[in-house]
Amino acid sequence: MEKDNRANFGSKLGIILATAGSAVGLGNIWRFPYMTGDNGGAAFIFVYIMCVFLLGIPCIVNEFIIGRYSASNTARAYRKLSNGTPWAIIGYIGVLTGFLVTSYYSVVSGWCLQYIYASAAGHLKGDPQFFASYFADFEKDPIKPVIWAVVILVITHLIIIRGVKEGIEKASKALMPALFVILIILVVSACMLPNAWEGIEFLFKPDFSKVSKDLFLGALGQAFFSLSIGMGCLCTFASYFTKDTDLTNSAVQISVIDTVVAILAGLLIFPAAFSIGVSPDSGPSLIFITLPNVFEQAFSSVPIIGYIVAISFYILLSLAALTSLISLHEVSTAFLHEEMNINRKTAATIVTVICSVIAALCSLSLSDWDAISIGGKPLFDILDYLTGQILLPVGGFLTCLFVGWYLPKKIVRDEYTNYGSMRGKFFNIYLSCVKYLCPTLILLIFLHQIGVI
Ligand code: TRP
Repeated sequence: MEKDNRANFGSKLGIILATAGSAVGLGNIWRFPYMTGDNGGAAFIFVYIMCVFLLGIPCIVNEFIIGRYSASNTARAYRKLSNGTPWAIIGYIGVLTGFLVTSYYSVVSGWCLQYIYASAAGHLKGDPQFFASYFADFEKDPIKPVIWAVVILVITHLIIIRGVKEGIEKASKALMPALFVILIILVVSACMLPNAWEGIEFLFKPDFSKVSKDLFLGALGQAFFSLSIGMGCLCTFASYFTKDTDLTNSAVQISVIDTVVAILAGLLIFPAAFSIGVSPDSGPSLIFITLPNVFEQAFSSVPIIGYIVAISFYILLSLAALTSLISLHEVSTAFLHEEMNINRKTAATIVTVICSVIAALCSLSLSDWDAISIGGKPLFDILDYLTGQILLPVGGFLTCLFVGWYLPKKIVRDEYTNYGSMRGKFFNIYLSCVKYLCPTLILLIFLHQIGVI
């Protein structure tokens, strides 16, 4: 009964665009390029793509199966399927992780809004030193970044309260095409710059001497983060899928879209950076310090183009961030709405308020307020590491064990084949991946990282 009263996405395109909107985000345009830059370019991309296809796709299908079968929020979905066993905890950890990621994510999304404003107002002009100090001053400011984080949370809120079809689906259908158009135009202009070739080569010519032990966990964490795996985000979205949605096909399409966007972001950033001889390994600040400088210098002969490119880039980034933030916010909203029996609007308001508070603390931890740090590390860095490198892979790992070893095979097969209406050619391969390959690889990567092997 519950299944019938619940909201659903209206069309196949809506499902793909909304889920791809969740996947495509700061992970692709902010995190992927700097991880690639820090880890030697193509070698990282190679390992990353392996992680997406071997681990990412089966893990996406897992969450889709759990979500669509139970047609409920993440916590209830795992609880329903676990029949009173402790497996139910995975769902609760997911929701909790959702609150943390939403808060930390909104801080970086807020930075993007500030940069739209700053580039439009013509503030981003100066020498390389200027860009570094501009970002440092902004990041340390106790007020501005907090305001921007709250602004983007409120925009997300306004979309979420309109519901699944009218809010999330409509927004994704408008925002995703806009994002693609801006991205393609920017890639073409970056690749036409002098010396762009060096950047393209960096991106595609693997240097295996750069393959370190950090690279594997880095690539795994990045694949999970970028594909929105490990905290029940996809599970929540799948609870709005229709019964005839082909889960495997959708998982493959979303992974391909997500990977293509990440590589396109690389094709925008590296050629532009190499064209003015800037090294692309400056870490998280790459797109906020290195890039504005790159845009200014690379297009110095026609400054108006540099001006437009810079504004478009930060709009692109903000759109990508917004569609992901919607999916993150929805996990907690659906949880409160269904578990506490409150209406969707009140649930969304509670989420927005709690996340604004954590986001403010997170942002303030980067200012001179040492109080919000743990063991000398700012709360922001802790949340980045804890969610990206630990909670998401652990969530993905436990979900593999849950689906592979605990759930009755019949449920898994029925959902996989849409109750027998499709052949489910790859079912056995999928199930073996989920039972053996994925948990083993995730475990090995972890043990490797902590130095056991
Ligand atoms: N995938 C998004 C990105 O690449 C971020 C994101 C949205 C996410 N929902 C998630 C990350 C759920 C982890 C889990 O930016």
